[in-house]
Parts: sequence; C-alpha cells; structure tokens
Amino acid sequence: MNQRNDAADPSPRHAQADETNIRALVEAFYRRVDDDPLLGPIFSRELTGRWDDHLAKMTTFWSSLVLGSKQYRGNVQEAHRPLGDIEPQHFARWLSLFLDTVESRYEPAAAVLFMEPALRIAQSLQLSKFGWDYRIPDAQVDLLAALKRLRTGDAAPDLPARGNGEPFPATFVGRGKSED
Ligand code: HEM
Repeated sequence: MNQRNDAADPSPRHAQADETNIRALVEAFYRRVDDDPLLGPIFSRELTGRWDDHLAKMTTFWSSLVLGSKQYRGNVQEAHRPLGDIEPQHFARWLSLFLDTVESRYEPAAAVLFMEPALRIAQSLQLSKFGWDYRIPDAQVDLLAALKRLRTGDAAPDLPARGNGEPFPATFVGRGKSED
C-alpha cells in the first residue's frame, strides 16, 4: 500500500455516507493502518493474503451500521480474541487514525455516525482485552459523550476538538493489569 496523507485530501467532505464513499473510507483508513509503525505489523501478520476480504468485510460492516443495510454477519469480539499482543496504545492509535480519516472525509453530522459506534465498540473490546476494571481513558469517555450530544442535537453541530496527535493516554490507567 502506498503512502498518502489522508488529512490533506482536497476533495470536499461528504454530507452523507453511501456505499461508495464507505468503501473509499475503509480503503483510506487501512492504508494508514498498514503504513503505521505500531499497527501495520499486526495487521500484515494477521491479514497476509486476506486484505481484499477484510476490506470487503469492513465495507459491509460500516454500511450495516451507518446505512442500516444489515448485511454484516460476524462477531466482532470473537474476531479480536486471538490477538494476544494488543495493548492500550494500539487502541489509542487505531482510534486516532480512524477518527482523523472520518473527519477528513465527512461533514460532522455524517462523521458522528461512524465515530460514535467506533468508540463504543473500542470500549467493549478494551474492557474484554484488559479486564472489567480497566479504566477507559477520560479523553475517550468525554469524546464519546460529546459525540452523543452532537448526534442528539444537544450541542452545536461541530465535531469536538481532539487536539493534535494522539488524544488518549497510551498507558494503563486502571488496576486491570500489572506491568509484567
Ligand atoms: C487495537 C485496535 C484494533 C486492532 C489491532 C484490530 C485488529 C483487527 C484484525 C487483525 C482483524 C482481522 C481479524 C481476522 O479476520 O483474522 C480485525 C477485524 C475486525 N475489526 Fe478490528 N482491530 C482493532 C480495533 C477495532 C475497533 C475499535 C473496531 C470497531 C469498529 C474494529 C472492528 C473490526 C471488525 C468489524 C472486524 C471484522 C470482524 C469479523 O471478522 O467479522 N476493530 N481487527
């Protein structure tokens, strides 16, 4: 996959998601994942020879969530269970890349439809990976709450600021796991 700074994509942001722009979002996101020094090696190890299937599956997954197409048949928790070497910083990086890619491609009202479920699912994956007493980083909890207010019309229709770089702490902040 080749390098491309998605945030610099000059094309106008989509006001609405559709199957075609969801496919483009998925491709752009996984291009960045593949190029990423932290996440790239995990995905290439797991998906060698299966990238095309993964991109098709993820397009169906996001279409089901955002367009209500209800075609995704899978188990997200089970798919991540075999990944034994995932740590908090992997989630921070995954979320940063995903939120950035979505933000650069969609208007806020459409972007929130991807961001909110991504944060919710990340939270449940984090809790099952790190234990139920793992404390989800405050910045992540706050962002989810702000996105919900945006979606329900309780806040101005602008995406909450996330600052530069990685918005979520990359270390364990709960009691869930020792450092060994
Ligand atoms: C640390 C962060 C993450 C890593 C390293 C990761 C890694 C992976 C990998 C390697 C697969 C392919 C599994 C396989 O087919 O063998 C996968 C599948 C998938 N991931 Fe993630 N993931 C992460 C976070 C997330 C999050 C936050 C979401 C929420 C949207 C997500 C949604 C999915 C879905 C829907 C699949 C397909 C599941 C299926 O097979 O039906 N992932 N992930």
